[in-house]
Amino acid sequence: MARNTGVSLLLQELAENGRLSRDNFAELIGRRQEARTEAAELAVRIQQRKSGKQVFRRALIECTNYCRNNCSYCGIRCTNRNVSRYRLPAEEILACCGKAFRLGFRTFVLQGGEDAAFSPDAVAGLARTIKARFPECALTLSLGEQESSVYRLWKEAGADRYLLRHESANPEHYRFLHAEDKPERTAEARKACLEALKACGYQTGSGFMTGSPGQTAEHLAEDLLFLADLQPEMAGIGPFIPHPQTPFAAYPQGSAELTTFLLSVVRILLPDALIPATTALATIAPDGREQGILSGANVVMPNISPENAKRNYEIYQGKISEGAESAEGLAVLRERIQNIGYVLSDGRGDFSATERQDAEPANRRKICTM
Ligand code: 5AD
Repeated sequence: MARNTGVSLLLQELAENGRLSRDNFAELIGRRQEARTEAAELAVRIQQRKSGKQVFRRALIECTNYCRNNCSYCGIRCTNRNVSRYRLPAEEILACCGKAFRLGFRTFVLQGGEDAAFSPDAVAGLARTIKARFPECALTLSLGEQESSVYRLWKEAGADRYLLRHESANPEHYRFLHAEDKPERTAEARKACLEALKACGYQTGSGFMTGSPGQTAEHLAEDLLFLADLQPEMAGIGPFIPHPQTPFAAYPQGSAELTTFLLSVVRILLPDALIPATTALATIAPDGREQGILSGANVVMPNISPENAKRNYEIYQGKISEGAESAEGLAVLRERIQNIGYVLSDGRGDFSATERQDAEPANRRKICTM
């Protein structure tokens, strides 16, 4: 089939330069029906050149659903009184790590709300214990916005990676998503955290939801430019899914179609990045995980939290945590990945940079946070 020259050129430019202008990104997004097949083919080629047909796995532990924030999209926002709040004691988190280790996981992801009980020292102590007990494993933290000194403390305690989606690079859209939150929660503050994480030496993950309320193609273009500037080692992209006990209850969910297209674009933009086929994508489409991988993702993150934690960590409605999404379903997950011609890796799946062939070796530009 003849390629559409316009979008082909844009994809080519993206692959060569690692970025497009804001207008060209927006145009590509607008013309995604024409571009999607070629984008997915290119993304998969780039991904396979890097790490073959491997899919890396991370054991997700949802350690607390207490949160001081009030994000308008999130089910565990602090003003949602219908949430049964929990925090896992350190022993239980360690038991989860043990179970994950026996199942062959070599990365643990501790994810939670911004919970004061997970104090800087408590998390540092936990990180030290995990790294002492499982020295060959990577530890990823995803515990929200913290002072730079806290990020440094946790890094020194042994944490290797940190996930913090930027959510929206556009300041007005970011405020719209966090309108009922403290005024100091801004896109700039978020970006500054990501810069701090990078400066500490974390493998840093950023990302955003697709189809979030108020989001436009121009906002998404800004998100992509932000990723091109930040050069995160990981990027998480999943559809917005409304939660009934939030101000965004009545908004429509994001689509698998937009999500998979953006996964391909982000893969072309960040050839070496670790990109998950997210649970949110698997929640809105029965074959979402497979679709994600076939669009350029190379990570899966099954949930190994205890049952009561899984039940109450409902950031959006209907979040799946059974079957291939769980520790128990590992065999199913492995089989599903094999069925699309990939293999579930037993490695840690650390980031490694491939030198670019072209002009500038480091694509990264300093992000202005002023
Ligand atoms: N739908 C989809 N993703 C959500 N997240 C939070 N709430 C929702 C929702 N309603 C995402 C955010 C956050 C990540 C942990 O989950 O992007 O960074």
